[in-house]
Amino acid sequence: MDHLTVLSPAKLNLVLDVLGKRPDGFHELQTIFERISLADQITLTRKSSGKIRIHCVHPDVPLNTRNLAFKAAMMLARDFSISEGLDINIIKNIPVAAGLAGGSSNAAAVLSGLNRLWQIGLKQAQLVNYAARLGSDVAFFLYNTSYALGTGRGELIKPLDVKTKLWHVLVTPRVKIYTKKVFARLKLNLTNKKDNVNILLPFLKKGDLAGLAGALSNDLEPAILSLRPDFIYLKDKLLDAGAIGVCFSGSGPSVFACVQSQQHAQSLRAKFDRSYTQVFIVTTL
Ligand code: C5P
Repeated sequence: MDHLTVLSPAKLNLVLDVLGKRPDGFHELQTIFERISLADQITLTRKSSGKIRIHCVHPDVPLNTRNLAFKAAMMLARDFSISEGLDINIIKNIPVAAGLAGGSSNAAAVLSGLNRLWQIGLKQAQLVNYAARLGSDVAFFLYNTSYALGTGRGELIKPLDVKTKLWHVLVTPRVKIYTKKVFARLKLNLTNKKDNVNILLPFLKKGDLAGLAGALSNDLEPAILSLRPDFIYLKDKLLDAGAIGVCFSGSGPSVFACVQSQQHAQSLRAKFDRSYTQVFIVTTL
């Protein structure tokens, strides 16, 4: 095998609870991840020259060690003394720095792709270990699951046995927001903290859309809005256009709406002003 092409999907957070600050500077989270149909495509090609190179025409994707996919390949090449070259080709469809974990997903795709291409033979637990070293959101994408509970920094993953298929309209303003900045602005209010994960889970399992929509929540929202107060209008506009529920994903600025069906998603999108945003119709993958 000299090359491999894999899909690298995005995620949404249906719930994101921040439980506290940890001694290592990260925040303790509990979150429900949903894997969605918006995806990048990654092709890994073995090369005889000894260089690892990354190719992507999207202007916001770094082509150096700031790219998590590149970092993932470098780590494996170093640890397993692989001296041959590699081209990593990324067709980028997932907006960058948008709360959708596109870069993290690319890193996970490279880890599991190279494990096959280079025949390294790493077990799932070892891949998860590499993922956690690369970033908090990487591990989720190593599990073949539509939904998972994430705890710790977000890197401890428990796949959820949920069959529900959701439809969303996903709106991403053309503004990059960096996770670090959002967490830095977070004011922790740990009194009267609700267990939003366990409030939402029964609705998700039953496919109760109205219940689910009412239980969507993201503790990072005040910090996102402190950076961009105008983004509250995105939520309002989606609700006005007929969304059942709306929520920010991750550290934003992406906002997603829960809708009844693909048809409902199409009619909502048609009403939505696309002048300063990217609007996608996505479903659970
Ligand atoms: O893990 P990742 O590199 O994606 O995190 C980016 C930044 O977001 C971290 O450097 C940290 O400042 C913040 N973060 C956090 N708590 C988490 C995840 C991320 O404070 N659980």
